[in-house]
Amino acid sequence: MTDTPCKITVTRRLPAEIELRLADLFDVTLSDDDRPMSPEALVEAARDSDVIASTLGDRLDAEFFANAGDRLKLVANFGAGVDHIDLKAAIAHGVTVTNTPSVLAEDAADIAMALILAVPRRLVEGVKALESGKFDGWSPTWMLGHSVRGKKLGIIGLGRVGQAVARRAKAFGLSVHYHSRNRINPHVENELEATYWESLDQMLARVDIVSVNCPHTPATYHLLSARRLKLLHPDAFVVNVSRSEIIDEAALADMIEKGQLAGAGLDVTNPSPTVSRKLMRLPNVVMLPHMASATRESRLDMGERMLINIKMFIDGHKPPDRVIPEFL
Ligand code: DGY
Repeated sequence: MTDTPCKITVTRRLPAEIELRLADLFDVTLSDDDRPMSPEALVEAARDSDVIASTLGDRLDAEFFANAGDRLKLVANFGAGVDHIDLKAAIAHGVTVTNTPSVLAEDAADIAMALILAVPRRLVEGVKALESGKFDGWSPTWMLGHSVRGKKLGIIGLGRVGQAVARRAKAFGLSVHYHSRNRINPHVENELEATYWESLDQMLARVDIVSVNCPHTPATYHLLSARRLKLLHPDAFVVNVSRSEIIDEAALADMIEKGQLAGAGLDVTNPSPTVSRKLMRLPNVVMLPHMASATRESRLDMGERMLINIKMFIDGHKPPDRVIPEFL
């Protein structure tokens, strides 16, 4: 690094403890208004910074890196997902990228499990019925959902979050099936009593609930395509706490509306407002506003992890959470 003090630009408000620590350690420009920076503002900040502390709303694409100038050396992302960063362009411009994996896995898995329970058990429909005065007493046949116990859960991507989902699902009596780019360690597979499916298509045709837990990369864009969604049986549910782009949500909405799928629990929403609105109107879809890591604990841990990456990089060491395209 240079002899001049390292300058860090943080693109969004972070928990106060993290901002204080950043200000203690570095020459830092914090975000006052917590609004995503425009592409022009990002480039302007990068030209005057050694480090950009980014979040998932920042579009750090090839154009950004082409215009970012020579000073920028590190993009330290606050978050695990890096699909908003063009990793190849970063590397080509000599910029290291780090993220904050693992620390949010348990909280993200809680939200996935909450959705795995909420949709088949009709939790949100029940709350809405109560709030709108439609409940006039218990009935043997009213508001019947489906048990999750004994059902087959198919996890796509058995990384940190996927494994944490599997542990929870096992405790709720679901059997765990998974498809991953790489088969996991046999000890972990045994502990989770997880069945590996090399073929995603074969797995989808056999499971009752699908949980999407792989990262969004060019290879996983619309992994759950219209064709693959049709492999699921009509009583199946889909849960996604990763990124909306992994599912063809227009096809998903269409199939749920036609009764070809039983419902969905989505923590991540499609950038297309038409599709999101359609999904939101369906009673058997529970949508959350990207809350999987939204706990004080996770956000502090993410900040701490980001700080460690920045500090190690500035001190001339390899930061622990370097992201390289081959990892994804
Ligand atoms: C991440 O870390 O990428 C999560 O989506 C943030 O909640």
